[in-house]
Amino acid sequence: MVEFADLDDLKIASRLMTRHCLGIAATGGGKSNFLNLILKQQMMRGGGAIHIDGKNSKEAIIEFLSLAKQHNRWQDVRIINIDDPNFSNTYNPLIRGDGDELTSRVMQLLPDAGGSGAFFRSQAGRGMRAIAGILKSIDKPYNFGDLNVLMSNEAAMRHLLRIAPPTKEAKDFQIFMDQMMATDPRTGEKALNTQKLQHTFGDLAGRLHSYYVGKAGRVLNSYSPEIDLYDAVRNNLLIYVALPMLSKNEIAVDFAKFFVSDLRTAIGQIQNDDYKPAPTYLVLMDEFSSYAMPSLAPVFEQARSSNICMFPFIQTYSSLTDKGRGLGDDFAAKIFGNTWNKISFLLQEPESCEMMSKTAGETLKENVSESISENLSFQAGDDDASVLRTGSRGRGHSKSISQQYSAIVRPEDFRTLNDGEAIYIGRSEVLKLQVPLVHLNVEDKEIDMPRFRMPARSGLGIAEMYDSLGGEIKK
Ligand SMILES: Nc1ncnc2c1ncn2[C@@H]1O[C@H](COP(=O)(O)OP(=O)(O)O)[C@@H](O)[C@H]1O
Ligand SMILES: [Mg+2]
Repeated sequence: MVEFADLDDLKIASRLMTRHCLGIAATGGGKSNFLNLILKQQMMRGGGAIHIDGKNSKEAIIEFLSLAKQHNRWQDVRIINIDDPNFSNTYNPLIRGDGDELTSRVMQLLPDAGGSGAFFRSQAGRGMRAIAGILKSIDKPYNFGDLNVLMSNEAAMRHLLRIAPPTKEAKDFQIFMDQMMATDPRTGEKALNTQKLQHTFGDLAGRLHSYYVGKAGRVLNSYSPEIDLYDAVRNNLLIYVALPMLSKNEIAVDFAKFFVSDLRTAIGQIQNDDYKPAPTYLVLMDEFSSYAMPSLAPVFEQARSSNICMFPFIQTYSSLTDKGRGLGDDFAAKIFGNTWNKISFLLQEPESCEMMSKTAGETLKENVSESISENLSFQAGDDDASVLRTGSRGRGHSKSISQQYSAIVRPEDFRTLNDGEAIYIGRSEVLKLQVPLVHLNVEDKEIDMPRFRMPARSGLGIAEMYDSLGGEIKK
């Protein structure tokens, strides 16, 4: 077993944060405390961070704000809380990205399905691509409501064609629309075939609608939102994302997918700008496996060159290989391979213990047993008795070396970690750590967060003009 490392807390953090990191922890081992420690130090050094937190509680938001206050960073905090718009800044994940990126972002709402499901999914994808294309050419911000209406309302679609510049995208959209038309046998007129449209988009329009209404809707549909991830990274902002994983799992997971997909686009733009955040920007992703997607792997392969540290947390190794979530061995290998620092808290399940033990590696232990024997015998010389002549000489040497590999950290060592104990596995060292307990001096009882009145920006506004059932709303 490795010995406890005598490291002061600052040293752990800066070492951890130079490359991508992976945290693995079952509940109760001290993960939340560790995250607070990392965030505290990141705030102290003026750095920015995104913290996607799988637990969604008022206390956790207050803690994050208190931590920021303690380090004079309150004004840098932004909060995304799709469960409570009263304690959330506004954020619109449909603003950044080209047509393809937005198409794949939206298509994440439809799970990969086999058989006929795959056919309908590709139909919906084609339709969404046509919409995303023409919307890009119009270049106005839009929201979930706009998309929903554009998937169900002929007048809204025609409106789009009227305001779009005559580009290839507009033509593609026209072609798509024509495919959705049918000739009415009685009148001989062409009209939108609503059944066809419904078949094409299936669930998608309805799903998008659920992000336009209700509490999540109030957070996610602004044309000039308070939060933009590209600006957040460039300005070292501190973004707290509350995911209601327990109460609203499906919405939380889908929202997290939107968020990380938008983040991927923002990171791409930052790399294109050749801008590097200083200090390294930190992206802490709790419950990573539940919203991870294969398209995130390249971020792990590239983001380190851009001073953005991806730091996912998982509960078990196998959650990264889950084919039901579109992941697999290949994805897990990429995440493991591209995270240079790994930190493990208490683990419970044997496969993860084995995997982490393997990751920590082995040392070669040599057992040497050696025996040396020597004997000499002398004979009297023939000529001169005073001269001794060596008669025989024998020397024996036996050395047996047995080499044995043994684990630096045994699987069971991960199962017996105590509160706040962790095993750090870096590229060239393995250390056992005792993470210091962070004392949060939380004084506030209520959430006190920065708000901004953003300059109004005109958006597409189609959801306001048309309803999703085909009518036109008079304004
Ligand atoms: N570094 C530490 N030193 C001592 N106790 C700790 C430490 N970290 C956590 N604990 C204790 O362990 C318990 C669980 O910690 P927490 O960080 O909430 O775990 P997790 O997020 O993994 O469920 C808490 O009651 C906390 O007081
Ligand atoms: Mg916790």
